[in-house]
Amino acid sequence: MTRSPNPVLDAVLTRRSAPRLTEPAPGPAELERLVQAAATAPDHGRLRPWRVVAVSGDERARLGGALGEAADTPEQARRAAAKPLRAPLLLTIVHRPVPNHPKVPEWEQLAATTGMVTTLSLLLHSQGFASIWRTGAAVRAPQVHKYLGVDEDEQLLGWLYVGTRCASNAADRRPLDTPARITWHTTGI
Ligand SMILES: Cc1cc2nc3c(=O)[nH]c(=O)nc-3n(C[C@H](O)[C@H](O)[C@H](O)COP(=O)(O)O)c2cc1C
Repeated sequence: MTRSPNPVLDAVLTRRSAPRLTEPAPGPAELERLVQAAATAPDHGRLRPWRVVAVSGDERARLGGALGEAADTPEQARRAAAKPLRAPLLLTIVHRPVPNHPKVPEWEQLAATTGMVTTLSLLLHSQGFASIWRTGAAVRAPQVHKYLGVDEDEQLLGWLYVGTRCASNAADRRPLDTPARITWHTTGI
């Protein structure tokens, strides 16, 4: 691909998920600005079918407690409890579809939510932060729903772990070797 200076293309090509994250993470004002920007992602009907629950500081240990309660064995509980401590900020992604919408089926609303999350991860990267989207069986655990206040008509889509990439976790450049999977139906000019 021919490269000319293009910050958007650069952000897309250099974003890599970061399994290990440290301080700093964005503060409330910066996070709000970035989430508002991410909300401009395509969203049929502008339904904004999502909300974000930010978990930071000591609350991460409380979330860990809920994850531990949902585990099957003491060993799994110990490991689950430590998971939220892997980043200074966890953005809980709660999908909140409008049921039986006359024009926008729920799959389109889920697409809008995931588009927002992807856009947010790119924006975080463009601001010098890093992130990784993580899910797991805990997204269905009642204990976790209770701690986060996830309602029955909502779906927990996991967490965007956010912070600053650890030096030991340097981002390799994304290779452009994936086939683009494009087929064309077009007429010649
Ligand atoms: C919806 C969703 C859920 C994911 N859940 C996990 C997860 O639980 N654990 C994990 O290690 N990676 C998970 N991933 C993958 C990472 O977020 C990341 O995309 C992957 O490690 C590839 O890295 P990259 O984003 O740098 O290409 C998930 C990705 C998506 C889109």
